[in-house]
Amino acid sequence: MNTLRLVPESRGGQSEIFCGEGAFQEQLPRFLRAHAKRFVFTDSNVSAIYGDLIKRTTGADGLFVMEAGEEHKTERTLFALLSAMAEAGLHRTDCLIAVGGGVVGDVGGLAAALYMRGIACYQVPTTLLAQVDSSVGGKTAIDFHGVKNLVGVFSQAKAVFADPLFLDTLSPREVRCGLGEIVKHGALNGALFDRLFAHQNGLTDLETLKSLVFDNIQFKASVVAQDEKESGVRKSLNLGHTTAHAVELALKTLSHGECVLIGMIFEAKLALLHTECDEGYLNELIALCKAALGGAWKLPSFEETARNALLDKKNTEAGSVVVTAPVKKGKYCLLSLPFETYLNETEQIRRELC
Ligand SMILES: NC(=O)c1ccc[n+]([C@@H]2O[C@H](COP(=O)([O-])OP(=O)(O)OC[C@H]3O[C@@H](n4cnc5c(N)ncnc54)[C@H](O)[C@@H]3O)[C@@H](O)[C@H]2O)c1
Ligand SMILES: [Zn+2]
Repeated sequence: MNTLRLVPESRGGQSEIFCGEGAFQEQLPRFLRAHAKRFVFTDSNVSAIYGDLIKRTTGADGLFVMEAGEEHKTERTLFALLSAMAEAGLHRTDCLIAVGGGVVGDVGGLAAALYMRGIACYQVPTTLLAQVDSSVGGKTAIDFHGVKNLVGVFSQAKAVFADPLFLDTLSPREVRCGLGEIVKHGALNGALFDRLFAHQNGLTDLETLKSLVFDNIQFKASVVAQDEKESGVRKSLNLGHTTAHAVELALKTLSHGECVLIGMIFEAKLALLHTECDEGYLNELIALCKAALGGAWKLPSFEETARNALLDKKNTEAGSVVVTAPVKKGKYCLLSLPFETYLNETEQIRRELC
């Protein structure tokens, strides 16, 4: 069992993180004894597979099951959950346990932060993405007015329990989704990159991925500890994401993780055109992204797609696009490109790739 304590330098809430076999069934119950009532929040898919185990392990006094899927990450689900918590008579000293992927974690974390101005929240991430990324760092949110994560707060979970027992039932697609963020962490951390590169022929192997979860949590936690509210270094976690979000908006058929891998390939190539970088390393990173993506993928002309990048929150000047690009092992830079340049170069890169 690996453990760590996330203590933000800003003195925000602290979070204990448990990663490994036994995190859920052995560690979580120790924390739950401190609460008179334990309320479980999960989604329909997780409940169908793990419902009995969850009830047995948590001794839940109340349960709310949301419909699975990003389209339900809404104020309706949030308020239905808050209603169920009120009906269960939860008090300030009680707790909410969010068992699920990033959607459950984000909505559950927000409900726990709002209910009575904040009750204890325990996160039990059940997807690879949630284990290596979304359950760590205290960002919570719902989608609102058509904008992803528009309404939310920073609120650290009291503890996170990342247990490999949940990962065996993930579809290959969901595995790849987590892999996108794992390779992104590798692009920001040299030691992690070397481990990933050594495994590049078996990147989607679940046992390999399980062995990498704690390193990823440690890396994300170290970034969050330095910059909890994302005013500086936490922004580096947007690496590859300008182009990833642009592709994601244009092509609904690709998952977020697949788009992150594609975004990193494009932005590594943009870095090669615009700034001093380590070409050998960037070619290795591109090979790693391609290995993680698996088979062939095709992208349509970037004429439409590039326009989506103009909506990115990082952009500071009208008419330019900012990307967080990899440059050297463990190093990134912010590139601000006039829109026409971004459009022409990404279209050229696309033609070479597809
Ligand atoms: N808070 C953050 O810092 C942060 C960071 C990254 C992403 N996110 C958010 O995370 C969400 C994406 O997370 P996700 O990819 O986990 O999506 P998700 O929660 O929708 O889960 C993906 C699918 O897997 C199913 N599932 C969950 N656990 C399972 C298991 N063990 N076995 C089988 N199926 C299982 C879910 O029911 C769902 O259908 C997005 O809403 C994104 O905005 C948040
Ligand atoms: Zn992402």
